[in-house]
Amino acid sequence: MKQRCISCGAAYPLSQILYTCPACDDILEIAIDVTGREAPTFECEGVWRYAPLLPVPLDKSVSMGEGGTGLHALRRLQQEFGIPRLFLKNEGENPTGSFKDRGMTVGVSQAVTLGARAVACASTGNTSASLAAYAARAGMRAIVLIPGGKIAMGKLAQAIVHGAEIVQVDGNFDEAMRTVRELSLSEGEIYLLNSINPFRLEGQKTLAFEVCEALGNAPDVLILPMGNAGNISAIWKGFREFHALGLIDRLPKIIGVQAAGAAPLARYLSGDLHECRISDPETLATAIRIGAPVSWLKALRALEESGGHAAIVSDDEILAAQRKLASGEGIFVEPASVVPIAYLMRERVQAETVVCVATGHGLKDPDAILRMAPEMKQAAPSLASLRSALGLA
Ligand code: F0G
Repeated sequence: MKQRCISCGAAYPLSQILYTCPACDDILEIAIDVTGREAPTFECEGVWRYAPLLPVPLDKSVSMGEGGTGLHALRRLQQEFGIPRLFLKNEGENPTGSFKDRGMTVGVSQAVTLGARAVACASTGNTSASLAAYAARAGMRAIVLIPGGKIAMGKLAQAIVHGAEIVQVDGNFDEAMRTVRELSLSEGEIYLLNSINPFRLEGQKTLAFEVCEALGNAPDVLILPMGNAGNISAIWKGFREFHALGLIDRLPKIIGVQAAGAAPLARYLSGDLHECRISDPETLATAIRIGAPVSWLKALRALEESGGHAAIVSDDEILAAQRKLASGEGIFVEPASVVPIAYLMRERVQAETVVCVATGHGLKDPDAILRMAPEMKQAAPSLASLRSALGLA
């Protein structure tokens, strides 16, 4: 395995600390040559089950049992949407409540392997929560930059309780991202763990492996949210590796969904923007409130190679989908995580097997729900009063 530039193809050893290619400045990926290789034996459960396909050895892992999340059949929704088999991969079941833990277990393990003293990230919330927890587990210093006043309460509480050094940046996520990159370039001992770091994406690709193992093959379609666009890149890489190993005999179509006020990828692809960035992203789905996705080129390739496309949903559609999933199927996910369901509520997808990725737990960001809560029924502590409140009198 080695690090390889996604544009010029230059290769570098795994032990070199790099975030972009020294030759051309584009981003890197971990290259694993699986051609002609026999499929490895997978042991244990979760992310580290796939250790033979990860760039850090199992005995170096900083782990909390991440991965192995449920792939839940959505029986009511599949009927309503006219899809024979519809599933939700519920990443809220991870230790800190989001898919970030898959990447952070590998990223922090690499930080330990490299002898880094501190780890850092910019975050819309979930990455900071996950980084703070895994750094605590590894006994390392954690530095997180967050856009001032724009991250959900639950995520901020996680970063605080795990003891991260939190810096509120007077700017949006994209500005925080640029600043933390500059910090890690100027301070060699601070290891950057945003999804620009290719080791993190290696952990996140295991979601694709789990879906394939659970279904016995790839689904026809996989739908997921896109923010900084690391996860779509990671998951597509996972499907491609399982395919190259002969463990699946087809590849899924990927549909990446963005919120209307923060949709640089979808708008760039539709020809509405000349470059893949907007300067003032806005959406109530704060996790994906991102205007300049770092992994945009990887994401475009995933969409193109898979024959998929990018789509846009509105904040109102997101709120309606969140309620529908929670009240109709019993699964509460945060606003950014429900964009695949919002998409299916509007568009007809003709496919046999569809998997939606729900990236984070609903309890991280309950604000919007509570703001729109219906008035609660009131009762005195007596049976008569309770019956009357419930309309049973
Ligand atoms: N869903 C949730 C809940 C997220 O927190 C994020 C990203 C995404 C989707 C998008 O994933 O960036 O890989 O395309 N959150 C990052 C953070 C940016 O800082 O927590 P992506």
